Parts: sequence; structure tokens; C-alpha cells
Amino acid sequence: MNQVTTESQQRERIRIQIHDTADEASCALALEIAGLIRARAKAGRSVVLGLATGGTPVRLYRELIRMHREEGLSFANVVTFNLDEYYGLPREHSQSYWRFMHEQLFDHIDIPASAINVPDGMVPRAEVFAWCRAYEQKIKDAGGIDLQVLGIGRTGHIGFNEPGSGADSRTRLVTLDSMTRRDAARDFIGEANVPRHAITMGVGSILDARRIVLLSWGGAKARVVAEAAEKAPSEALPASFLQQHGDVTFHVDRASASELTRIKLPWLVGPVEWTPTISRRAVVWLSRQVKKPVLKLLDDDYTEHGMTDLLTEQGPAYILNIRIFNELQHTITGWPGGKPDADDTHRPERAAPHPKRVLVLSPEPSDDVIGMGGTIRRLVEQGHQVTVACQTSGNLGVPDEEAASYADFMIELEDSDAKGASNTFVRKIRQQLDEKSAFDIDPPELRRFKGALRREEARAAVRACGVTKENSVFLDLPFYEQGRYRQFRIGDADVDAVVALLRKIEPHQIFATGASEDPSSLPAICFSVLRQALEKTRDDAWRRDCRVWIYRGASGIWDIAEIDMAVPMSPMELSAKIQSICHHKSQRSQTPARSQQAGEAWQQAEQHNQAVARAYDEFGLANYEAIEPFRQWME
Ligand code: F6R
Repeated sequence: MNQVTTESQQRERIRIQIHDTADEASCALALEIAGLIRARAKAGRSVVLGLATGGTPVRLYRELIRMHREEGLSFANVVTFNLDEYYGLPREHSQSYWRFMHEQLFDHIDIPASAINVPDGMVPRAEVFAWCRAYEQKIKDAGGIDLQVLGIGRTGHIGFNEPGSGADSRTRLVTLDSMTRRDAARDFIGEANVPRHAITMGVGSILDARRIVLLSWGGAKARVVAEAAEKAPSEALPASFLQQHGDVTFHVDRASASELTRIKLPWLVGPVEWTPTISRRAVVWLSRQVKKPVLKLLDDDYTEHGMTDLLTEQGPAYILNIRIFNELQHTITGWPGGKPDADDTHRPERAAPHPKRVLVLSPEPSDDVIGMGGTIRRLVEQGHQVTVACQTSGNLGVPDEEAASYADFMIELEDSDAKGASNTFVRKIRQQLDEKSAFDIDPPELRRFKGALRREEARAAVRACGVTKENSVFLDLPFYEQGRYRQFRIGDADVDAVVALLRKIEPHQIFATGASEDPSSLPAICFSVLRQALEKTRDDAWRRDCRVWIYRGASGIWDIAEIDMAVPMSPMELSAKIQSICHHKSQRSQTPARSQQAGEAWQQAEQHNQAVARAYDEFGLANYEAIEPFRQWME
């Protein structure tokens, strides 16, 4: 077991370093790796690194490349072994891990090709077992792994060791968990295209490494990070077996650390300063723990749950309960743009000015209605000037078949018109679709076509919420047009486009998403563009009267204690929201009908909004059909 360093970390059985940003954490690991490589090079020895793919290590690899280019870090003495590969994908496939590693790291450093080892996804089935044994032998022959880099999946997997994998599992062929396949659906443009199997190093093979460093970013991983570090090791969460290793460090960002006991429930592991935020969180937690609405919590409930000092400072229970009840009650508003001419002392949004200029930013075309379709509708109905801006075209998310059926439709229309001149653009698109295979990178014309398709869907979706065509804006940010998932890099042109929009609208309210998500995810990248744009407009006069609200994206858990504004929806409003989400037809076809455990986007939105409403009800507030939650963003 790893050593506990402070009282508040007493529940953690693994050393965890919390960093302000993923960049900071990645740089810390890059420094460690560079130190190891240099020390070995000096001694004339090689280093064996175990490497991971996915969004998480991208920043680490960028930093290593930078060190190679700018600081002369040589990888000539490095041997690498990758954790895993999709089974059935050839190396050249755009989603193969072999290709990922070359594009993200190997092509940019001086590592000898012969020192690179990635599991082979094309080994014939009958030879897989022997191949896996040989891979393990090769690691041994190289001297064993000195430092193993890991990410973690939302299932708690390391490598592709899904729940059920034992601590002694070795390199083998595995079946991917349905959640893992869903998480990969975006890369493969639809869950149905995600391979079902993979070859992965086992948990036992990983534990053989001399040192292990796991990286994790974003709120979606917070729960598994906490469980891996704090719960007893079990096959239900393979990452928890890392507790059995003597030299493991987790480097995590703040969002990924948010479910650790020392962060989430600090009063359970030592004395705390009872700030308003912590008090609110504690009371919400207690109410859930004892399954009582807040106004029924007793002094005994507090004392029996380690919160005597909170009572001493802010109690008795009766007073504290009412205070927190009122605080949460005040987050509920049917007036997300502020209620004109009303006393706004206890309202989440100010009354004046009315109407407000409101800007809703959507990373990809459907995020806006999924996250806040009901609220957009209300804002429009309450007279505000609402502009909805899609930051990216979303063309990467359109399956070829969708594009093909639209192209065929247009060609057929044209052919049925005797006088119709041949539309060369659509025919060209059809030809490009015929010539490409599913995972080839789309030529620019096809991307334009797919983008146009999403634009129309997005217009229809926000039109259903009352937003006019003129107020539906498409920024088509260049980083997205020039990139692919996991390879996006934002530049000045992206930030300038958002700055121009902000200066044109001079909004009183901005609604955005992605603030605490994995920084390699599209919503987080889009949020980072907004943050930089806000930085550039810091001294503009309109900024003095502008608030930024964060709406919840598709992932992440929001506790009601963290919600600053809760906009309720009636059953009718919820149906209207669902209908507007359904306008994004090209996205619907990507969830295979038979594996809808998590459901389509509209179902997830419905479930989430109803769950928030239930939480408010259970806490003893109001009983609404559904609620859209928001947090205020403070720079
Ligand atoms: C990748 C791997 C996986 C990922 C995990 C997290 O080689 O072994 O365990 O580390 O699925 O993926 P991302 O980083 O994309 O969130």
C-alpha cells in the first residue's frame, strides 16, 4: 500500500496528486519520464516505457515532443510497449492504436522503429494466445517495464481490463464493456462500428511494472478515481488492484479529484472550515444519507454523522436546516433571464436589464438543446434576444450513410427534373462517398456537405425553441475543420472568431458548457476558446454586466449542492425539449436500437433532467417534472 501523507488523505490507499490543470499534471509526468530517460542514457542503459492511448495522455505526448524538439531529449534509448489494441483493426485504420501512437508521439521523436511494440490487432484468432504470451516474453526480455503510463475508463478499466478482470490476468483477447464501446462511439461515428474485442495487457502484466502513473481528467472519471483509490480492491473495478502495487501515483486534475472523500466529504476525514459551500454540501449529503427531507433533519442526525462542529457553529438543526432549505429554494427560477420588475435579492439572475441579450454557445450543433432546450425556449418566450451559436460545424459526427441518403435524394430530385442541369457538387459528394471507406478522412467537400446537413438540423432544433434563423449562428471554428478528435489544436483564429461574436452581441448572459470536462473533449476545447475570448475582452465595457452560466453537458454528475440556478420544466415543456433534440436526425442513427442501455441523447437528457427534479423533491423542495441545472462560472 502507498503511504498516506496527511490526515485528510487517510481514505486514499494510493498516492494522489491533484493539479490545477491537466497540462500541469502532464508536465509533471513528462519531467519524470525525461529524468528517467536521461539518467539511463548517462549510464548507457535503455528505458522501457509502458504507454497508453486515448484522450488522456495526449498532453503528455505533446510535452515529450516539445522536450525532444526544444530541449534535445532523445528517445534513442527508449523501448515502448503499448497496453492494448482493438482486435480486427489493421495498423493503418484511422482508429487503430498503432496509428494513434505514431501520429501522437512516435512520428515526432527519434525512437527507433524496432523499439516500438503495440499489440497486433490482426493476429488470426487461433494464434492469439501464443501471440499474447510472446508479447509478455518480449517485455521480460527487454528487462520489464520501468514506468507504466495509464489512463482510466469510466468502467474502472486500465488497459482494456474491464470489470471482472482479475489481479493476475495477463495479456489476452477481451470483450469490451458496453460503456467503453459507447465512449468510443464518437471516434468510430456510431457505436455499431466500435470493435467488440481488443488485445490488452492484463492487470497482472501492468502490476509487474516497476512504477505506475495513472492520469485522469474531467468530472466524468471522478467517481471511478475515488473508488479505485478508496475502496477495497475488487474485480468490479480493476483499477483498484493498483493499490496492491508499491509505487503508484495518480496525477489528476481538480474535476477528476472531486469525488475523493477529502474533497467531497472533508468533514469525514478531519476538521474543516465550514464555508457556505461546504456547509451546503454537507447538509445535502446528510439529507440523502438519512433519507429525510432537509427540514426534518434532527440534531442527532448531524451528531451521528460527524457534523457536531457544524451544529456548534451554525446550528441548532432547526436554524441550519431552514437556512440551507432557503438557499436551495432560491436556486429555482422560472425566469432564467431574470424576472423583470421583481425583487431579485434572492434570485439567481438579476432583474435588470430586461430584455437581456443572451448568447448560447453550443460546442457541436446538438449540445445546446440537449443541455438547455427548455431554458432557451423560456428565454425566448420571456422576450430576451437569444442568439444560439454553434462553435463547430459538427461534420465529424455525421455517418457516411446519412450523407449518402441526402446526396441520393438531391440527385433523384434533379434527375426527375428534365431540365435540371447536372449538379456537379452533389455528384462529386456521391462519388467521394463511393470511393472512401468508412474510416478514411473525409475530403473537404464532403465535410462541407455534412456540415450543411447538421446546420439544417440545428436550425430546425432551435427553431422549435423559438429562435429565428437570423439568430442561429454558425462559427465553424477552424480548429475543428482542420482537425480530428484527439488532434484538435486551437489557434488565434478560433479565439478571434468568438471575440468578434461577443463584441457584436455584447451579451448580458452567456450560456456555455464544458468547463469541468476532460480537456481533450470537444466541449472542454470549445470552453477553452471561450475563456480565452473572455480574457481578450476583459476590459470591454459590456463585460461589467455579463454573467457566464454553465449548462451541464452529456457527462458528469452534478450534485444539487453545486447548482446555482435550476430551471423547472412542465411535462409539456419537457416534451417540447425532446422534440427539438430529435431534429438532430443524423445523430439518432448512431445508437444501435438493440444496445440502448444508456439510450439516445434525448432519453439521456430526459432521465437527467428528471433525476435533478427528483433530487430537489427528495430534499423537500418542490416536485417538478424536470429541471435543467446551471452553475455560475467565476473567472
Ligand atoms: C488506452 C487504454 C484505456 C484508456 C481509457 C481512458 O490505451 O488502455 O484504458 O486509458 O479508456 O480513455 P480516455 O483517455 O480516452 O478517456
